Amino acid sequence: MNKAKPTTIVIFGASGDLTRRKLIPALFQVSLEGLLAKGTRIVGFARREKSHEQFRVEIEEALVEFTRSKPSAGSPELKVFSSSCYYQTGNYDNSKSFHDLKELLERLDKENGISSDKGNRLFYLATPPTVFSGIVGMLGQTGHIADPNDEERWTRVIIEKPFGRDLETASALNKNLSAILDERQIYRIDHYLGKETVQNIMAFRFGNSIFEPLWDRRYVSHVHITVAESVCVEGRGGYYDSSGALRDMVQNHMLQLLALIAMEPPASFAPDAVRDEKVKLLSAIPPIGASEVNECSIRGQYAAGTIDGKLIPDYLRENGVKPDSVTETFVALKLYVDNWRWAGVPFYLRTGKALAGRLTEVNIEFRQPPLALFSHMQEGEERSRMKPNMLSLRVQPNEGIRLSIGMKVPGQKMVLEPQDMEFCYQDVFDVEAPGAYERLILDAILGDTTLFIRQDEVEAAWKLVNGVIDGWASEEVPHIHLYRAGTWGPYAADEFITNDIRKSKAL
Ligand code: BG6
Repeated sequence: MNKAKPTTIVIFGASGDLTRRKLIPALFQVSLEGLLAKGTRIVGFARREKSHEQFRVEIEEALVEFTRSKPSAGSPELKVFSSSCYYQTGNYDNSKSFHDLKELLERLDKENGISSDKGNRLFYLATPPTVFSGIVGMLGQTGHIADPNDEERWTRVIIEKPFGRDLETASALNKNLSAILDERQIYRIDHYLGKETVQNIMAFRFGNSIFEPLWDRRYVSHVHITVAESVCVEGRGGYYDSSGALRDMVQNHMLQLLALIAMEPPASFAPDAVRDEKVKLLSAIPPIGASEVNECSIRGQYAAGTIDGKLIPDYLRENGVKPDSVTETFVALKLYVDNWRWAGVPFYLRTGKALAGRLTEVNIEFRQPPLALFSHMQEGEERSRMKPNMLSLRVQPNEGIRLSIGMKVPGQKMVLEPQDMEFCYQDVFDVEAPGAYERLILDAILGDTTLFIRQDEVEAAWKLVNGVIDGWASEEVPHIHLYRAGTWGPYAADEFITNDIRKSKAL
């Protein structure tokens, strides 16, 4: 592993939830594990007036609450970490604030023995997307950005999601960023790529020889990708209502899962080799045209129900949600990948909020054997219960891999039933996997872009979902199916997928 160089990490949006719950705990964890260089500093930047001291108190509180290693309040490691944190009050559109920030950063460099203009900078944009371009513009104007070819120091910028709200806004944002930054300096984050089990999809596919030969249209009947959440909008009603499940989950996390499952083997594990393959895959998916939307998608919205004994109100009654909103809290989509490997194999994507459980899983269903040798040998009760082979990659929770195969039930008769061969991470590896943000922030410090989204990749993903957005927007009466909170989504989605699989098998 490369060694991290001393870096000053500036978090814009330092008063926000993401900073408190994810970013600061991730930085603490990697620092605790000795993965950050000595002299690494963290600077929070936000509008609220605050002293360094107040910021440090908040940081320690957040660490006690949200860090996976559960440090106790007032412990020496908390003090050491918080003493490396600083705060800068400022406005995102005010050049004076950015000059003040520059002064602070140079003072910290000096204390670290780094000469002026030689400090490495990682800027993390954990702000609402409306200010992404403005912040990068200000950083450029006020001299914060290093020459990308400078070998002695670097500047990198992590951009949070949502990256645009459609193809047009994403391309405009890309254009604004590339006016100031080189693509090598832009790190578009998708935290799903930092998840250990998502990375394991690549290890599983390309580090083993036995599955890859089966990984195509000759053997695979169809693929399900499911990201079910039992949480609702969690106080983010305003954001969510203008976004919906398609933009919030499919455009980014789910298409990334699909890309990793279906892409061709990269020529190497170099960042651009992997990203080239993902872009090729996304570009091979024919976008759903506005007129086909009803044949390829089902959208739903949750109504009141119960989850874990707790009463959940209608989505329409959540704070920040318009009372007549038609925003989808559930979506099911059917996509095809028009390439040599996958032509004709449907990929069903399904995600939703307020569902019966939390589950992210990829299920690959294989074709039935060409001849059903065992299905008609017994009568009545003992008839074989044959099911197609299924490979399940469980991303969360209970991370693991399951292969379902038909086995003979012991006895005089030839009766088969499906049984699972299972592997569970927790049982095998006695170490806790690093959190997604730990991995990704560290990669950005090390300059590894493999797990970040490239410009063409984000645009290819938007191109795909744009047709669905347009199709839905053009419906006079929106086809939105209500489902009860605490169920697995609208009945119409199950029916759509089951019927579709039946039809494709009959072909
Ligand atoms: C975020 C979405 O990107 O991912 C949230 O904005 C969603 O709505 C979250 O809840 C899911 O992430 P995870 O890691 O909990 O599966």
